[in-house]
Parts: sequence; structure tokens; C-alpha cells
Amino acid sequence: MVRTRFVGAALAALAVAGAVVLPSATASGQAEVASSRKGPLVIGHRGASGYRPEHTLASYELAARMGADYVEPDLVATRDGKLVARHENEIGGTTDVAAHPEFAARRTTKVIDGASVTGWFTEDFTLAELKTLRAKERIPEVRQRNTVYNGRFEVPTLEEVVDLSRRLSRELGRDIGIYPETKHPTYFQEIGLPLEPRLVDVLDRAGLNRPNAKVFVQSFEVANLKQLRSKLRVPLVQLVNASGAPYDFVKAGDKRTYADLVTPQGLREIRTYANGVGAAKDLVIPRDAAGALREPTALVRDAHTRGLVVHAWTFRNENTFLPADFRGSADPTAYGDPLGEYARFFATGLDGVFADNPDTAVEARKG
Ligand code: G3P
Ligand code: CA
Repeated sequence: MVRTRFVGAALAALAVAGAVVLPSATASGQAEVASSRKGPLVIGHRGASGYRPEHTLASYELAARMGADYVEPDLVATRDGKLVARHENEIGGTTDVAAHPEFAARRTTKVIDGASVTGWFTEDFTLAELKTLRAKERIPEVRQRNTVYNGRFEVPTLEEVVDLSRRLSRELGRDIGIYPETKHPTYFQEIGLPLEPRLVDVLDRAGLNRPNAKVFVQSFEVANLKQLRSKLRVPLVQLVNASGAPYDFVKAGDKRTYADLVTPQGLREIRTYANGVGAAKDLVIPRDAAGALREPTALVRDAHTRGLVVHAWTFRNENTFLPADFRGSADPTAYGDPLGEYARFFATGLDGVFADNPDTAVEARKG
């Protein structure tokens, strides 16, 4: 365990010093990895979504105050082309839009990344209209306590998240990074609202499109990250799921899957356009048939060998999300032993964790 941690820290230090050559010829984000010197990065997943409705300024602020190094806005577009923070473009599950009769006629069914989805969609609302909605807890059956905050917070724009991170950086005396993710990039390109130029524009205007900015940009698709490589000077992270394939691959008839991306050959290709892998936890330590953790895979080692950092998702405190060997009771909503789970994952030498409960991740890092 000590050795693997040392290897991760050493890689981080090398990257900070510029000794690890980051891709590509046109861009070489090296900003992070800096915080890795104190241990794995803590990324507030959708803010501090274990305590507040996700993707709200209140959720991001709490994450920062709890010690998160970064806050993570997932990004989709409005009808008038603004980037807003939502996990998906369908907003029925995380806002009170269903209670707004003036928007009842906007409920519709669309095909998003090959799946039929019914609800209300950000691209059918102007930003001004979206601002009349209020966020609500996505999983009230698990996080009943968060429902007391339903109806209080707006859907934030990316600019508002940047402004918040700036204000909190000044107040807290440490840089609060942002870790935006492009959601459904092929879909938004197809409807004429591409996310990528808008993201570049916001980062440019904020002065954050530079190698030392505390920013990572992530995507589950490949082609848009490759396009962004020539536009962005911040580190890029290829998200990799435990099953399935990038939707742009599916759309293009490319038979490769996420599993192919985490082979040594796949990692070599990722290295040509990205600086890290954002991996589903099971790709780092799989679970057995009973849901207990098995032995780590070679992913962290293989990625480090190729100069890629590894950030894993998603860490949550409730039993329902924990591996079977870290559940504390049969109550799915009660907390189990997340510190034990973190210890197993930190021992792999990974470089960062996306956490719904950033305070727990920070506490685990101290250990
Ligand atoms: O972006 C890392 C992690 O957040 C990916 O999962 O679905 O929560 O965006 P998701
Ligand atoms: Ca995300």
C-alpha cells in the first residue's frame, strides 16, 4: 500500500515538474496532478450531492467548504445556447418542472444516445425559462434529508459555477478547481447546440484555458475530446464505463467498447489526446458475485505507465452503493463503512475520487 501510494505521488510530482510529457503537440494541460501531492484528489461529484440536491450552487459550495479540491458540473445546453449544470438534458427528475403548468406542453419523448426518454429537455427552454425552475433531490428514497432543500436552488450556468469557485478560492485561501463534463456531446452537436465551442468560450473568457488553470475537462465520448485537444490547454480526461461503448463509437459503427479503451493499447491511444482516465470504480477494483471487493485490476498501474492519471467514480456513503463487505446494516439508506472502501481504493495508487460526500473522502485521505 505504501509503495503504490508513493508511485502515485511520484507520478504527480513528476507531472507538476513537467517531467511527465502530456499530450499533445498542441496542448499540454499540466495544471493538476498538483493537489495529488497531498494524496488523491477529492472531486465533489455534482457538488456535495450526498447532502444537497445535485448540481446546484449550494451543492458545489458545500463541497468546497468540506475540502473538495474540485467541483464537478455536468454540462448540457439551453435553447439559447447557454451551458447549464445538469446530469442529463431531461430535467423532470431533478427540477420542479412538472409542477409548472406553463411548461406542461413541452413534455415530450426524444431519443437520446439511442434510448427513448420522456420528459422535459433543457434544449427546449431558454435560460430565462430554466431560471424559473427549482432543483429537487434526484433520489429522495435514499436521501430523504436532502428533500428539505427541494425548491430552493436554481439551475446554475457554467459561468456561475466559475464565479462561485473564484469567490470560494479567495475566501478559503486555496484554489477550488472545476471539472466540467460534456453530457451527450454527439446529441447536442446533432441538434445544432454543440457543447464544445461554448465550453471553450466560457473557459477562454474566464482566463481558465491555460495549462496551470485548475481545470479538468471530461467526456464519455472520444471524438469530442480529440477535437477539444486542439482547443483547450487544460488536462482532458477520458471517462470509461464498466460496460457499453462511447456513443460516438456506436454512432460511427466503431465496434470498440469501453473495455477496449482500458487495455494497454486503448490506454496508449487515450494518451495521444488526454491526460487521464475517469474510470468506473469496478474497473479499478471489481466486485464478486456477492458484491464484495475482489483484487485490484492492472488499470492504475497500466495507466500510470503511460503517463495517465486515474480518477475513479463514484464514492457514496450509503449502504446501497457500497461494496457488500463495507455495508454496515441491511438499511440501504444508512451509512456503512465508506472509510474502509476508500482505504482499499487509495491503496491502488489512484489519483482522485469523485465523491458525493467530499468530507468523508477528505477524512479518508488523511488516513
Ligand atoms: O464524471 C464522472 C462521473 O460523474 C461519471 O458519472 O454519470 O455521474 O456523470 P456520472
Ligand atoms: Ca459526471
